Amino acid sequence: MMQLSALLVSLPAVFAAQQPHIVFVLADDFGWYDVGYHGSEISTPNLDKLSAAGVRLENYYVQPLCTPSRNLLMTGRYQIHTGMQHQIIWPCQPYCVPLDEKLLPQLMKEAGYATHMVGKWHLGMYKKDCLPTRRGFDSFFGYLTGSEDYDTHVRCSPIAALNLTRCALDLRDGEAVATGYKGEYSTELLSQRATSIIEKHNSSKVTHTHGFSSLLSCPATAAHRALTVPERYVAPYGFIEDHSRRLYAGMVSAMDEAVGNITLALQQGGLWDNTVLVFSTDNGGQTLYGGSNWPLRGRKWSLWEGGIRGVGFVASPLLMQPGTVSRELIHVSDWLPTLVGLAGGSTNGTKPLDGFNVWNAISKGFASPRLELLHNIDPLYNDIAPLGGDLSICYECDEIHVFDSVKMPKLLKNLGGSWANSGFNVYFHAAIRSSNWKLLTGYPGCDIWFPQPGHNSSEPRPSEVDPLKPVMLFDIEKDPEERKEISDQFPRIVEYLLGRLYQHQKSAVPINFPDDDPKCDPGPTGAWGPWA
Ligand SMILES: *[C@@H]1O[C@H](CO)[C@@H](O)[C@H](O)[C@H]1NC(C)=O
Ligand SMILES: *[C@@H]1O[C@H](CO)[C@@H](O)[C@H](O)[C@H]1NC(C)=O
Ligand SMILES: *[C@@H]1O[C@H](CO)[C@@H](O)[C@H](O)[C@H]1NC(C)=O
Ligand SMILES: *[C@@H]1O[C@H](CO)[C@@H](O)[C@H](O)[C@H]1NC(C)=O
Ligand SMILES: *[C@@H]1O[C@H](CO)[C@@H](O)[C@H](O)[C@H]1NC(C)=O
Repeated sequence: MMQLSALLVSLPAVFAAQQPHIVFVLADDFGWYDVGYHGSEISTPNLDKLSAAGVRLENYYVQPLCTPSRNLLMTGRYQIHTGMQHQIIWPCQPYCVPLDEKLLPQLMKEAGYATHMVGKWHLGMYKKDCLPTRRGFDSFFGYLTGSEDYDTHVRCSPIAALNLTRCALDLRDGEAVATGYKGEYSTELLSQRATSIIEKHNSSKVTHTHGFSSLLSCPATAAHRALTVPERYVAPYGFIEDHSRRLYAGMVSAMDEAVGNITLALQQGGLWDNTVLVFSTDNGGQTLYGGSNWPLRGRKWSLWEGGIRGVGFVASPLLMQPGTVSRELIHVSDWLPTLVGLAGGSTNGTKPLDGFNVWNAISKGFASPRLELLHNIDPLYNDIAPLGGDLSICYECDEIHVFDSVKMPKLLKNLGGSWANSGFNVYFHAAIRSSNWKLLTGYPGCDIWFPQPGHNSSEPRPSEVDPLKPVMLFDIEKDPEERKEISDQFPRIVEYLLGRLYQHQKSAVPINFPDDDPKCDPGPTGAWGPWA
């Protein structure tokens, strides 16, 4: 689903010539093969043009799901260090990003910026202290959860304890419920709000803009609802036969247009020359709903490259080497130290960061300070969220929806073996990257090489040719499609990376993934929001 979501725009209150405006656009479920410059049949002229004059990040990683990527963007810390290594925050779960984490907008405010967010929060809202306006944003307009309907802004969610599915409004302006926007397509609604913040920004008083995002509806509650888009965006895509892909292409076009509008507003406001615009997806494309990560393996929700290798670029007249492609290893957790660095701020008050300041790698082409990347360790992993809908659409990975101890041995061959001594439980869903090497353990998620859109797959199911193993090693630089599993050839590298996973797991805090609280129920006429 391609929906416009989190726009964070921060306009600094105090003039300081060297501090750039920062605009962060976070696109939702935007797949590797969904951007024009990766060869997609979907046309993204604004993204293509901006990135061509900026720096395209081609070795850039995000987390496989919405809440986790947002969490890392805001904290600069790995999922295992906030207790949020498992899944997303469901509307009735009573938790949020731990309140003792200092978030990016708080740091930007300390550096003198005004901070605005437009789009999808999805970092918890069960009590007021969790809301974006209490965590560093001067203003907020958008969704507190995920998967809203694009036109009604209603989010439906099962409440198991009450044995019902509740559909309620999820749209806020500041902390107030925002009514009266029914029928306004969310991508346009959110981008209009973003451009109006930029236009209102008074350049005699302000220097900075930080953050905007276009997002998706994370786990779509129902494909037919989530894939909505005004006809004018879909019209150019009559040649796409697949219905979901065609609608999805229209949604991407709307998002691309929104980015164009925001850029234009910055230019017309005379702000562009001092702006750093970051564009990033939040996770890989969801093939169930029209997204594509071709030729990468897997999809959203998996630790294969299709779930985590992200579309990303930086556009800015301040770049020292504009018009280049970066192949340096960069991760979504790196934005916090990078942007705070650009702001001339301090990360004082954060907990130990897992992110690095990568500005010199992006702007000047220097080597990235990041040598290793922990993708995640999640001992509770399962592949498919409780969609509550028609699971037959998950046909590609039908036999492995749920990762459990009964199905596990059937899926993973060659258990035991020589890895027993590493100390790390290789049944855990985990992945780590070190230079060109990537090690995966447990069940990484849907393992299909989905065909290029418009083409039929002639490939047999991967698990028939090459059964998944509990420990798998790939040389990602030579083999980005993860086709040649080479753990047998490089036992010492496997041993080293398992040792690293063991060390990381020792630093993990316990998973926080509480049961639904039935008190969340907003009732038949209410809106989703804080209840505790
Ligand atoms: C849940 O609701 C359905 C439909 O209203 C009903 O058939 C079912 O018995 C209910 N289950 C429980 C546990 O109350
Ligand atoms: C972009 O701006 C044009 C002109 O104001 C407007 O018609 C269009 O709806 C905007 N697109 C989006 C996605 O907001
Ligand atoms: C910008 O701020 C200055 C000084 O506060 C004020 O005089 C001016 O009217 C403002 N301009 C706009 C367009 O708000
Ligand atoms: C960091 O923050 C603490 C507590 O807010 C403060 O006492 C200290 O002076 C700060 N240090 C720096 C280098 O800003
Ligand atoms: C894909 O396969 C289907 C069913 O066999 C066939 O109808 C369709 O024409 C094929 N499409 C392409 C692009 O080859």
